[in-house]
Amino acid sequence: MCGIVGYIGTKNAVDIVYKGLQQLEYRGYDSAGIAAISGGELLLEKEEGKLINLEKHLSKFPTTQEIAIGHTRWATHGKPSRENAHPHATEMFALVHNGIIENYEEIKSELIKEGYRFQSETDTEVIVVLLQKLYDELKSIEGAIAKTFSRLEGAFSLGILAKDDPESMYLVKQGSPLVIGRGSGENYFGSDITTFAEVAKYAIFLNDGEWAKVTKDSIELWDHDGNAVKIKPTPINWTPGSADKHGYRHYMLKEIHEQPAVISKAITNFVEGNQLNSEALGVNALACEKITNISIVACGTAYIAGMLSKYFLEDLTSLPVNVDLASEFRYRKPHMLKEGKTLVIAVSQSGETADTLASIKHAKEAGCQIMSVCNVAYSSIDRESDSTLLMQAGPEIGVASTKAFTSQILCLYLWANAFSQRIGTLDQIGVEKMLEKLSSLPVHVNSAMNCEEGIHDIVNRFYEFPNFLYVGRGPSYPIALEGALKLKEISYIHAEGYASGELKHGPIALVDKHMPIVALAPKDDYYDKTISNIEEIKAREGLIIGVGDDQDQTLKRLCDAVIACPQVDNAAFQAILTTIPIQFLAYYIAVKRGTDVDQPRNLAKSVTVE
Ligand code: F6R
Repeated sequence: MCGIVGYIGTKNAVDIVYKGLQQLEYRGYDSAGIAAISGGELLLEKEEGKLINLEKHLSKFPTTQEIAIGHTRWATHGKPSRENAHPHATEMFALVHNGIIENYEEIKSELIKEGYRFQSETDTEVIVVLLQKLYDELKSIEGAIAKTFSRLEGAFSLGILAKDDPESMYLVKQGSPLVIGRGSGENYFGSDITTFAEVAKYAIFLNDGEWAKVTKDSIELWDHDGNAVKIKPTPINWTPGSADKHGYRHYMLKEIHEQPAVISKAITNFVEGNQLNSEALGVNALACEKITNISIVACGTAYIAGMLSKYFLEDLTSLPVNVDLASEFRYRKPHMLKEGKTLVIAVSQSGETADTLASIKHAKEAGCQIMSVCNVAYSSIDRESDSTLLMQAGPEIGVASTKAFTSQILCLYLWANAFSQRIGTLDQIGVEKMLEKLSSLPVHVNSAMNCEEGIHDIVNRFYEFPNFLYVGRGPSYPIALEGALKLKEISYIHAEGYASGELKHGPIALVDKHMPIVALAPKDDYYDKTISNIEEIKAREGLIIGVGDDQDQTLKRLCDAVIACPQVDNAAFQAILTTIPIQFLAYYIAVKRGTDVDQPRNLAKSVTVE
């Protein structure tokens, strides 16, 4: 995690770096810092807590500095504190780091034996101390950086300032993302392009093993062995999404409310008359006829979207579909991956999740085709994939994923239809029937929003309970997992999701009159069995919050409360509709409990460490 950013040019560098950090706060928000060179001095300010806490220190920098680097942290080694915040510095160098140095203990003990002292508990400080030591020995900044680079193991992107070279920023990339923004008479770097997309004309994405020297007018790039690397600039074609709350109290609430528009936009983007746009859906770039099995990899909410998609992917494609947590998949043996025949689908809102990215690389080594479903263009996962389905859901800023989740479900579903048509398991009539139902989805999503009003009574009754269970069958099972994940991450209430059929294999032991259970009960193929499970909960005095048809008298009779949800005759669309009530429920419970909804404790929007 963590975000790093830097600027060199003729403008107020600290100002620019601070604005860059605001863009990157989604990557971590437990402390932040900025270093600049001014008047031959290395200046450094850092602060614990949110980025806003750093603002009061900015006036301590002179307004004339033209070079600065900054960091916003998500703690890996050492608690969130001022001492552990970056940049870390020595007499000559200031350094910001995103990633993890796996051999830091070994290097640190060597340096301690040689008499070096450390101020922080971080893995990062060993880099800057080692750099200083090697500089003292070699008397060469570039030599010291190259040698330091060769000692480090792990994933890291580094931004470095050297006091004696105030005209240059030095960058190193291994594993963690790093991109240079080329302007005219000024240059930038950042963990992603959002920090400079509106001002720089070209992006230069560094590859693993590369390092760079950036002045305001030049960029030099080398590989790990010191050979010059030809620079390949990518023109930036960026339409900034709105990062405004538009009057909503939280980004999360705004993003929940954006779902009808996101769904409508997806229909515009991916449907042309009575056809699916297989180009925009990323089908055309794949050798579809060779594919014999599909493996989906993702983390968190994106994994749950993948899990859900298995229900309709198997049905539509008649191919075996595997769904894995990326953090597990990346270490599995590749026997399951068949060269040229397995399609690996990576699902990721941010496009930067370290485990998902590593899974793609793992699958590439096994010769698989790679497709991604991604919300961020130019992200690492987008660039690593043979084909990308860009969701175009607009920026998602609230840490808890909402509109990206429902968008992922719809995108995967439309992709599954287009792909199935390509391989011949779905005909044009099937596509047209589906499109007819799709055309009314925005209306249903809009009416699903109406549950917001009635939810406050339920929230008032249940927000103080310390535990919740969520249950569902078929495609409602992943939604139960998503409901529990949403609730726990923003309200800090302990919540678990279960397949309804699994209840009696253990979890039902938890059920008594103190346990609220959110039962997802759409009128689908599984409805009767779901109702039987709800009866079993009722018999044990569980407190049942049903999500389903509010005209459903059985549900009303069995449940302590019912959240209304429109009913449709399509499993993927129903899953989208069932999701909306559980998003509102989690959101309003968190608000009632007074937690930091958009930036919950210990989390970050983009998880760039494993
Ligand atoms: C939960 C949430 C996370 C992300 C996960 C993957 O609300 O947002 O679980 O879904 O970290 O992130 P992406 O989709 O960016 O790969």
